[in-house]
Amino acid sequence: MCGIFGYVNYLVEKTRGEIENTLLDGMQRLEYRGYDSAGLAIDGDKENEVLLFKEVGKVAALRKLIKTSSADVNKTFVSHVGIAHTRWATHGPPSPLNAHPHSSDVTNEFVIVHNGIITNYRELKALLVSKGFVFQTDTDTECIAKLCKYVYDINNHRDLDFTELAKLVLIELQGAYGLLIKSVHFPNEVIATRKGSPLLIGVKTDKKLKVDFVDVEFPDFPEITVEPAAAVSSATGPSLLVPLAGSDLRRSQSRAFISDDGVPMQAEFFLASDPSAVVEHTKKVLYLEDDDIAHIYDGELHIHRVRREEGQSTIRSIQTLEIELNEIMKGNFDHFMQKEIFEQPDSVINTMRGRIDFENKIVTLGGLSAYLNTIRRCRRIIMVACGTSFHSCMATRAIFEELTEIPIVVELASDFLDRRSPVFRDDTCIFVSQSGETADTMLALQYCIERGALTVGIVNSVGSSISRQTNCGVHINAGPEIGVASTKAYTSQYVALVMMALSLSDDRISKRARRHEIIDGLGKISKQIEEVLALNDQIKEMAETSLVNQKSLLLLGRGYQFATALEGALKIKEISYMHSEGVLAGELKHGVLALVDEDLPIIVLATKDSLFPKVMSAVEQVIARSGNPIIICNKDENAFSKLKTTYRTLEVPATVDCLQGLLNVIPLQLMSYWLAVKKGFDVDFPRNLAKAVTVE
Ligand code: UD1
Ligand code: BG6
Repeated sequence: MCGIFGYVNYLVEKTRGEIENTLLDGMQRLEYRGYDSAGLAIDGDKENEVLLFKEVGKVAALRKLIKTSSADVNKTFVSHVGIAHTRWATHGPPSPLNAHPHSSDVTNEFVIVHNGIITNYRELKALLVSKGFVFQTDTDTECIAKLCKYVYDINNHRDLDFTELAKLVLIELQGAYGLLIKSVHFPNEVIATRKGSPLLIGVKTDKKLKVDFVDVEFPDFPEITVEPAAAVSSATGPSLLVPLAGSDLRRSQSRAFISDDGVPMQAEFFLASDPSAVVEHTKKVLYLEDDDIAHIYDGELHIHRVRREEGQSTIRSIQTLEIELNEIMKGNFDHFMQKEIFEQPDSVINTMRGRIDFENKIVTLGGLSAYLNTIRRCRRIIMVACGTSFHSCMATRAIFEELTEIPIVVELASDFLDRRSPVFRDDTCIFVSQSGETADTMLALQYCIERGALTVGIVNSVGSSISRQTNCGVHINAGPEIGVASTKAYTSQYVALVMMALSLSDDRISKRARRHEIIDGLGKISKQIEEVLALNDQIKEMAETSLVNQKSLLLLGRGYQFATALEGALKIKEISYMHSEGVLAGELKHGVLALVDEDLPIIVLATKDSLFPKVMSAVEQVIARSGNPIIICNKDENAFSKLKTTYRTLEVPATVDCLQGLLNVIPLQLMSYWLAVKKGFDVDFPRNLAKAVTVE
């Protein structure tokens, strides 16, 4: 979830302060994608000077850092290139050093920002180290900046232009990239290129563009196009030298930018990995294609390619974006909540990425590894959370108990504090929170810190208060969640908690078979979530026809599915404002049964596990009172065929009992969504509720 933003002004006078703000605002637009550090590069006061600013945390922190700089904010630039980046750490933890832009050397001859992963960076690094380059960071990206300088230096005696240099560098890169390159050797010019990672260019000119496309420029002599220097991997001495022919490309003219009166056109360019950062400046955008090398200089945009390919378009059109910012961020979905529900096949994978070795059945949570032994020795685990996060604790409590054999207590943060519940030094307290800022959970954390317990966070927002103030923890990496009703954060918290239980029990031989079963189940869960999402139309129809006019709804579940019932009921209340209640199926006969009649809609969570016969008995009790249940069950379950009533089913795939809640909750998320849509309510921002409740 890294983000790229670049800003080029040509013959449009801007102060340094204005340029900085444009870059910072652009980065802030990418904020919804989530990141853990940010940085930018702009020109300094002296010739050939580039200033780099990098900071961990939000863009606001970078803004603050820049304010402390002595660089004159009123200095004006008639033409200038600035590049910026928001980073979500992959290679190396978030730190100012690892943040982008990355630099070729101490004088910043080349600075770059990069999205994606360079898979052959180790080979490139080995080569560059052998040539005397000193690496400063843990990132894969740094090798690109250094490679630029290396290629430039060995070709320095030739009249190498920025495009040719870029071609020589890119041919060596394997992996994926969206990339901006800025260099003191090519002042006020920038290279923007992509392969497998999106990049677009917004264009703003003072005069109308001549044509609404840009020609793609190919080398004049295809036979001499550059091939990768195999030398890079063998490190025997590369031949990264530019072919002599073809260098006249540089002075070609871009038809779109020719002005009638011969006066150069003023132009601004906004380069970004995501249109949300561009639309506030211009609606005219050009999307780069893979392997396009865009070169912006003298107020013109040129697009080059290394070779001409059969059937390939020779132009890139400059489109007019009709959509507004909000719509762009939502993609093809009508609401953030809907987008987030449908993101779950990916978000659960992101939670597990790099943490589960499915082949060898090993779970590694980097953030906990130093604390596992202490946690294993603790006398009890207290899970503390609010709302949906509380339900993810409920959903995983049983598997925690089973695998760790440590007593587990699950607490609502406010009640835990109200009771001033006793907490001891040998307790481990787990704080689960999407935002990491919920006041009740924060206060409970303070309370436990004061009592000397070990504190663990399970948090989505990197850099949030809970993430910072806990002793250790796990970031669930679900990506930003914007809809107030939490969906993908729930499933990711659930997965993170299961992974934590698996980690804590990996020293127990007796639990091995069970652990392997769960790890295999996690390996299949993303595909199964996709299958459940295919119920969307059926659920929409059910919500619109038979549920929307009801006043109340009950959800029954027991064992692992009690948490699903509670979470489903919360979703329905939150956004469709319908009274709904999650009921422990075993408690039905102790009171709730009085509500049941032929009208009250009842959803029963009846997927197959050891408690299935007991759930069936709850279904029978409902039917005996003329109830017509909606049953969430496994595919091809025939146990209901004997029921003497009309009932409907929503069939979900079967997984390991302790993971079944990940699948069963999804029809309920969809149901709440369609109920709210049908009623015309504001799905993403329900009345009276806030995403992060930072007051007690
Ligand atoms: C970390 C990096 C990740 C990198 C990986 C590999 C971060 C945010 N993540 O992931 O980008 O790819 O190493 O080296 O730097 N923590 C808390 N409380 C919480 C959550 C986390 O104290 O509520 C701490 C953890 O103990 C850990 C750090 O924050 O020290 C990062 O946690 P997490 O992102 O879960 O760690 P990794 O998965 O190892
Ligand atoms: C708020 C939200 O009440 O806080 C809920 O509306 C959320 O959706 C709850 O579950 C807890 O938030 P967090 O960020 O601590 O998980």
